[in-house]
Amino acid sequence: MDSLDPLSPYLFRYKRRNFLVKDKLRPADLDALQHFETRPTDIFLVTYPKSGTVWMQQILVQIMGAADSDWTEDATNRKRVPWLEERLVDNPSRGRPDPRIFGSHLPPNMLPLGVKDKQIKVVYVWRNPKDILVSFYHFAQSWVLLEIPSSFEDFFQQFLDGNVYMGSWFDHIQDYHKERDQLNIHFVQYENMLKDLRGEVVKLCAFLGKDLTDEAIDHVVETSTFKSMKTNPKANYKDLVETDRYKKETMRKGKAGDWKNVFTVAQNERFDNVFEEKMSNLPLSCIWEIKE
Ligand code: A3P
Repeated sequence: MDSLDPLSPYLFRYKRRNFLVKDKLRPADLDALQHFETRPTDIFLVTYPKSGTVWMQQILVQIMGAADSDWTEDATNRKRVPWLEERLVDNPSRGRPDPRIFGSHLPPNMLPLGVKDKQIKVVYVWRNPKDILVSFYHFAQSWVLLEIPSSFEDFFQQFLDGNVYMGSWFDHIQDYHKERDQLNIHFVQYENMLKDLRGEVVKLCAFLGKDLTDEAIDHVVETSTFKSMKTNPKANYKDLVETDRYKKETMRKGKAGDWKNVFTVAQNERFDNVFEEKMSNLPLSCIWEIKE
């Protein structure tokens, strides 16, 4: 049996992943999630932290609302796309009517078994890990459950070592890529959404089996831009700022290449070495920067 391994006052390691000491979720709850009752119409939005989860929540909510008027509801995206592993397993938001969408950061071996068995649709959003690292560094200063990094350099090393919330980015994407033929999974690259949001929405609709009109697709795109989401309290997690759970806005910059403003040359070399060592077998190419 895997045991709980305390990493720090903030994190414990379980099954190669790091979870939050200050959260109520414990190994028994995580194990119980494997038996969470899935429905064939469920959709799972899976990400490593800071990869564009909140963005994809908005896109999925808009697509589902356009495809099915019963799905329209006056609630935040956080309520409409509840977090699978957040808090206790009897979280009432899970009993929502079909089709349900859940968010998760869990690796494939910790998802509910039904996700694979019932071939439930999984949308996996991934992003270049240098920008994830910078976004995560800022987020660690925002979310009260995370340890505030003592310096960027410390956080940089923790990220490379996988000693951050949810563990190693490298393992996360490798695990999902390895499982791609066993899962009903659609990979979406954050930077491709920046380059051509409409094109990615169209591909996503095809994966979800949602036949939207051109006007409906335009609406999904318009309401999912950084600018639009930043002022939309249903999409931007403002309620968490207002209730002091986040100290900063989650809609920070929304760009590709911000790491260039932060990494030193030496840090970049170190990152590239680790990247080369851990990722050379993966046939996915990161987009490190998009010039404006
Ligand atoms: P930055 O901190 O680099 O700005 P997650 O939702 O997984 O926590 O990811 C958060 C990151 O996604 C943040 O990155 C945030 O700004 C970015 N993001 C959220 N909505 C976005 C949008 N509509 N367009 C581009 N980036 C977005």
